[in-house]
Amino acid sequence: MDSRFIWAVLFFLFAASGASSSVSATADSPDGSIRVTFDLKEGRPFYRIDRFGRELIRPSAMGFILKDAKPIQGPFEISSVRTRAFDETWTQPWGEKREIRNRFNELTVSVTEKAPGARRMDVVFRVYEDGVGFRYEIPAQTGLDRFEIMDELTEFVLAGDPQAWWIPAYLPDKVEYEQLYRRTRLSAMDTAHTPLTMETENGLFLSIHEAALTDYASMQLAPAGPNTLKADLTPWSDGVAVKTRAPMKTPWRTLQVADDAGGLITSYLILNLNEPNALGDVSWIRPGKYTGIWWAMHLELATWGTGPKHGATTENAKRYIDFTAKNGLGSVLVEGWNKGWDGDWTAHGDRFSFTRNAPDYDIREVARYAAEKGVGLIGHNETGGAVPNYERQLKETFALYEKLGIQSVKTGYVNFGPRLQRVDEKGKTVGEWHHGQYMVRHHQKVVEEAGRRHIMIDVHEPVKDTGLRRTWPNLMTREGARGQEYEAWDPEGGNPPEHATILPFTRLLAGPMDYTPGVLGLRFGPERPRNRVNTTAAKQLALYVVLYSPLQMAADLPENYEKFPDAFRFIREVPTDWEDTRVLHARIGDYVTFARKDRNSGDWYLGSVTDEEGRILETQLGFLDPGVKYTARIYRDGDGAHWETNPYPLSIEEEPVDASTVLKMRLAPGGGQAIRFIRAQP
Ligand code: NOJ
Ligand code: CA
Repeated sequence: MDSRFIWAVLFFLFAASGASSSVSATADSPDGSIRVTFDLKEGRPFYRIDRFGRELIRPSAMGFILKDAKPIQGPFEISSVRTRAFDETWTQPWGEKREIRNRFNELTVSVTEKAPGARRMDVVFRVYEDGVGFRYEIPAQTGLDRFEIMDELTEFVLAGDPQAWWIPAYLPDKVEYEQLYRRTRLSAMDTAHTPLTMETENGLFLSIHEAALTDYASMQLAPAGPNTLKADLTPWSDGVAVKTRAPMKTPWRTLQVADDAGGLITSYLILNLNEPNALGDVSWIRPGKYTGIWWAMHLELATWGTGPKHGATTENAKRYIDFTAKNGLGSVLVEGWNKGWDGDWTAHGDRFSFTRNAPDYDIREVARYAAEKGVGLIGHNETGGAVPNYERQLKETFALYEKLGIQSVKTGYVNFGPRLQRVDEKGKTVGEWHHGQYMVRHHQKVVEEAGRRHIMIDVHEPVKDTGLRRTWPNLMTREGARGQEYEAWDPEGGNPPEHATILPFTRLLAGPMDYTPGVLGLRFGPERPRNRVNTTAAKQLALYVVLYSPLQMAADLPENYEKFPDAFRFIREVPTDWEDTRVLHARIGDYVTFARKDRNSGDWYLGSVTDEEGRILETQLGFLDPGVKYTARIYRDGDGAHWETNPYPLSIEEEPVDASTVLKMRLAPGGGQAIRFIRAQP
């Protein structure tokens, strides 16, 4: 056991008056920097968090409002306090880092109501060097079998009014999470999704999120008074937030803290709070790259539905398979291959079949051809939000794919909240949000069924990531933010250059993102007069290193890759599975630089992106393996490059470097830089 481990102290303070009493228990992080205090004030539960003796989270309320039952918020008394120290290092089967240390001190406080018929609840805190996770556990007990949570009272009272980067929740006529980030003080926020990233007045970086969301509503953060955010649980269509029964555990509520913004990225607290692998053998799970019959549809050069421009024909799929085989890109995604796309599919998602193909697409022949060429296939299951229709077909669909050798499935739930279909208890079809308990349960069903069939999952229009990939390593990646597709058709012109400098500090703190980078045809034809890709070419390459995803798309049309073979080389070579990850520069909304080490070759890769401002960034290569010589193959913005006026210039240069080298990187406005560091052969 760690010698610095400070045992949680339990102490009882009884005020002399007897009218007000306070009882508390504390636990410190293994390094002693963070302290959590649980308190009963007049019997009501509160927690607070301090770091180096300074308040991070002021006393904040806890508890629940139930339907047709008394709230669970005290008055309580503490019936027991338990502590334990934990330290393990576990291996990610794939990921942004191989070995993860999971070291915390845990404090479990059991409280019992004072009233007759007393109900019991445990509050469990895990205190890490990089933050805190806590959750509620309701043990089995008489009088609490099935119950419904209407509201969770958990608060986060900040010590001040930090800057926050946030996206609003519950926007009508929008797909949940697909927003540009706003930056305001906490005091000017609306109800926001998590992860919520903040910078405090004394320069600390915080992120509030949750871990291990499996059978509960997702938590948003709603302003609730000065410096105060309160848990907001996505309701079902009948107004209930969570339908549950004891014994139950809520997801972990998390606070991560770092002295610089990059420290939030290299904090693995969310993964650590998830359960270990429940799938068993994961040798069949393989990160990699993929191409797709996809971008052509977003540019309206092809259609999902049948007709003269149908993208998913057997012949076109074979063309993509050939291209993918030739360039070693791994897999091909085929969208629009199945029945149900004709007409307004978002209004008629229940017409989708996931086993029957369009007349000009032969699923068996394509699968046979892909296998012959050694190329993987990614099946596409767009539901249009018709969830019952998908669930009815799920088992036979995945059974068929397993038989055909389709190793991955991209799911999709295009519809606005609250319009995802559910059949209620009376047999009526009602509308649900993307991020309520109903969809949390649905995604869980999909990933477990996929696991049984050796299928990897990539979710679009998902529930936010809460680290479940640790438990179900076939849950590879998801969208859940504005991806590159917005550049093709967004009436407001797509993602501004700063978007990619915010994502790593916000959305990607939750987990991998299927952003679909790699578009080298930065300008579109007359069919898309108002849109373009809002980056330089070098920035498209850098995104492969900056925006982590174990399944990473080479999104552009094959004909564009053939036009730009030099830039395409980086896309062909960049790995998607990493030994280690470092953040070298980190200014949220301005610029960010990552270095990542390839798990297989030991080569390092660097990606750096900037917002609309050009920059010169000095980069110390101290991350390179000591004593090893490398050749740096640098893909930089060419002279005069500019995302808006001159996006194409790209210079590729080679330079000998080692761990003592300092590189001066020049990034164009809206630009970036990508580097492969090739180890010299000994
Ligand atoms: C939205 C997804 O994000 C996109 O990738 C997909 O092509 C369309 N839905 C159609 O399913
Ligand atoms: Ca989408």
